[in-house]
Amino acid sequence: MPSRITPAAVTIAPALPDFSARLIAWQRQHGRHDLPWQNTRDPYRIWLSEIMLQQTQVSTVIPYYARFLARFPDVAALAAAPVDDVMALWAGLGYYSRARNLHRCAQAVVELHGGAFPASVEALADLPGIGRSTAAAIASFAFGARATILDGNVKRVLARVFGVDGFPGEKRVENAMWTLAESLLPVNGSDDDVSAYTQGLMDLGATLCVRGKPDCARCPFAADCVANVTGRQRALPAARPKKAIPTRRTWMLVLRNGDEVMLEKRPPSGIWGGLWSLPEAADETALAERARDFGGDGAVVSPLAPLTHTFTHFRLDIEPRLAELDRASSAHVALGDAETAWVALRNIDAYGVPAPVRKLLDGLQGTLI
Ligand code: ADE
Repeated sequence: MPSRITPAAVTIAPALPDFSARLIAWQRQHGRHDLPWQNTRDPYRIWLSEIMLQQTQVSTVIPYYARFLARFPDVAALAAAPVDDVMALWAGLGYYSRARNLHRCAQAVVELHGGAFPASVEALADLPGIGRSTAAAIASFAFGARATILDGNVKRVLARVFGVDGFPGEKRVENAMWTLAESLLPVNGSDDDVSAYTQGLMDLGATLCVRGKPDCARCPFAADCVANVTGRQRALPAARPKKAIPTRRTWMLVLRNGDEVMLEKRPPSGIWGGLWSLPEAADETALAERARDFGGDGAVVSPLAPLTHTFTHFRLDIEPRLAELDRASSAHVALGDAETAWVALRNIDAYGVPAPVRKLLDGLQGTLI
């Protein structure tokens, strides 16, 4: 019989003593074995994949991962690279603090650990950008450590199989889940067992126990899973308590001179920190002012289709305005400033540009005068 556990009570091992053995067997037979970061114990490759895979799907990560490794084959190469090169290769993956921390972490591994990633969860979690779950994933995949992960997918699996109520983002529920996850680890596993167990948790959450329509018929825990047995797959894990996210509005200047646009580098912190974007202003008048500053009196500002981008904590409504600059007048524009650049639309790839801005600029291709 499945045991239903309320968060306050999740302190003891639940009644599924063979959880790890079943998961390992399932992973070996039905899990994923040929992802580009598997079949290696190189902590650099494993670390890079785990950082990229935070909040990002496997299919999105794969091409970025290949490009990164081709450009930065080891941690020393990444540590020595200019941060702008790292940001440019990361552009489009989102959550840009990950890229800045990735670079800082590579430098810390070189400076503090002689270029070799430490093996313990604690030392890994002390490095920039590596949280408790990511540290455990790296330690188990690279070093065979008996350490548990607890990312969003794993929380979903545990909430369903063991009937954990409450929103897993809430500290009390999360703490209970860490305790539960630790109690489930294989006891006497080899290094390969530990890796298969960790990968099994990930694979189950990504391939069967998915958010929308879980494939319970193929799940090794179907007969014991609280959510399956009680028909509560949709209710578990509990959703984040509703809170409306605020909307911000910004005006963006697409200042065009022939086939080039003016890009401006954003400050290092805050949204899209360190990326190249379009010049912005808080309202229409201020934007027209900026257009005049860049282009002299001749700049005419006309609206382009607005777009919206949703971040975790707010929605950004973007009001783009196009200003054509007379080729002859470009001499009046401040050039050579490190914070701005004229970039040909076909060369945008060489710059780290946020995805919605990139989309906006892609829409301009083909409308060249
Ligand atoms: N998500 C996070 N880490 C992963 C991994 N190693 N393989 C597949 N998906 C993942």
